[in-house]
Amino acid sequence: MKKTWWKESVIYQIYPRSFADSNGDGIGDLNGITSKLDYLKDLGIDVIWLSPVYKSPNDDNGYDISDYEAIMDEFGTMEDFDRLLSEAHARGIKIVMDLVVNHTSDEHKWFVESRASKDNPKRDYYIWREGRDGKEPNNWGSWFSGSAWQYDKATDMYYLHLFSPKQPDLNWDNPVVRKEVFDMMTRWCEKGIDGFRMDVISLISKPEGLPDAPLMNELYGDCGCTANGPHVHEYLQEMNREVLSKYDIMTVGETACVTLEEAKKYANSEGTELNMVFQFEHVGLDGDAEFKWSTRKMPLVPLKENLTKWQKGLDGVAWNSLFFCNHDQPRVINRLGDPSDEYREVSAKCIATCLHMMQGTPYVYQGEELGMTNYPFRSVKDFNDLESINAYYELTEKMGWKPSEIFPKIANKSRDNARTPMQWDDSPNAGFTTGRPWLAVNPNYTKINAAEQVMREDSVFSYYKKLIELRHNYDIIVYGHYELLLAEDPELYVYTRELDGKKLLVVCNFSDHEREFMPDEEFRDGKVLIRNLDNNNILDGILEPYEAYVLYTG
Ligand code: GLC
Ligand code: CA
Repeated sequence: MKKTWWKESVIYQIYPRSFADSNGDGIGDLNGITSKLDYLKDLGIDVIWLSPVYKSPNDDNGYDISDYEAIMDEFGTMEDFDRLLSEAHARGIKIVMDLVVNHTSDEHKWFVESRASKDNPKRDYYIWREGRDGKEPNNWGSWFSGSAWQYDKATDMYYLHLFSPKQPDLNWDNPVVRKEVFDMMTRWCEKGIDGFRMDVISLISKPEGLPDAPLMNELYGDCGCTANGPHVHEYLQEMNREVLSKYDIMTVGETACVTLEEAKKYANSEGTELNMVFQFEHVGLDGDAEFKWSTRKMPLVPLKENLTKWQKGLDGVAWNSLFFCNHDQPRVINRLGDPSDEYREVSAKCIATCLHMMQGTPYVYQGEELGMTNYPFRSVKDFNDLESINAYYELTEKMGWKPSEIFPKIANKSRDNARTPMQWDDSPNAGFTTGRPWLAVNPNYTKINAAEQVMREDSVFSYYKKLIELRHNYDIIVYGHYELLLAEDPELYVYTRELDGKKLLVVCNFSDHEREFMPDEEFRDGKVLIRNLDNNNILDGILEPYEAYVLYTG
């Protein structure tokens, strides 16, 4: 397998709005991030993925971009960005930018022109259609509830928006649009950035003729049907030829609805498209039958089955990204661990061990390294996220759900769980801001915060630090082949890695009670690379609640 720096890196995702506020307006900003680079250096990560920092009216917190080459007012200036980039580089940290080009904001100048008239030169930058019998052109539902079509009075036509009406989809079938995007990317590369995370990139090529989709509920068709469209690989190969291949950068595609077979194309090891993709099957396992909103826990047997499929399926032919958390996902401790005082830290470490010992590039989402948890939402008024708010009203008002039934489900899976401010210390507002935070701080910040974690040797932070260091020191953690053991055990996640005659055994007890487990003979006098409990004997054959350890023979 070819060795590359991005396979050997650990990525840290920053959601700038919630990371650190430098000027007291309650909103995180670029100077805030720069002030925390030493913290990230201490953690040991190699690369920062910055969620969007471009100019935006913030309908979807920066995922609705009105100017790809300017910085969002609240976040600072281009000079602030340049300083962040050079300060990061000075510490050996790379910066990967979010690239949101399935859609723009409706306030982007391209769209302002496009909607002005049918014969505007930019009309075909977006996807415009006549209505069908006085209604939407097809049945597609938006990922954020409601129809995926917006009627526009000026020209009596509809435009497509797979996300909010303020996020019109670009028409990638138009070669001029592709050239605009590639030129913009080139200018960022010339600035010296280190790569792109590509937002919903699997959705850019729409199916021929925009046919109706199978119904996802009584109201709308499943817009997942727009994923992996007819020309997506062709367009990414063109992007690769025109831009990516000219720079030593890393790329990761956010590929909604990607299958293993599709991922082998997107992230093929010949390098003709992207370096790796995010797949979402594993984080969908705790959803309800009809939607993601639920209060279920992640079931371990299907989780093992799924991650094993991806570990083995991409080995040698493509490359995995490893993640449980990001700005769209609730906190993993609530899904897979135990947020109670008794088990929060040990379960956070167990989850981290399980993920970080796999083949692929790991992603740590801000606060994950502290064991941050979901927020105790009490009412829909506590939400900021448009996906959660829209879902609540659509499900209660149009689909007849009782608020008392649906609210707990939405609260449990809301994207806002990940977006509460970073907990830096136990001062007011967790040290995130001296002003009023744009989204409430989780009240548990007095006990869960970076200042306390950084100081303590047995903290979740110190544990992540060690996991990251191990990955930098052991090739087998990056490149080793994966094999699952005990596939049917509903509580233990046990697997091996193997490379050039060396072996790792990874053992994680995902339950809150003792379990019997004895490592195989060949591992018994192996070296303990890491463990989340100190003073008990691994070879007594008993695993404590949420115990995890890694043995190495070589
Ligand atoms: C991606 C982003 C999400 C955003 C959506 C639309 O899924 O991760 O935050 O809302 O795309 O851009
Ligand atoms: Ca600020």
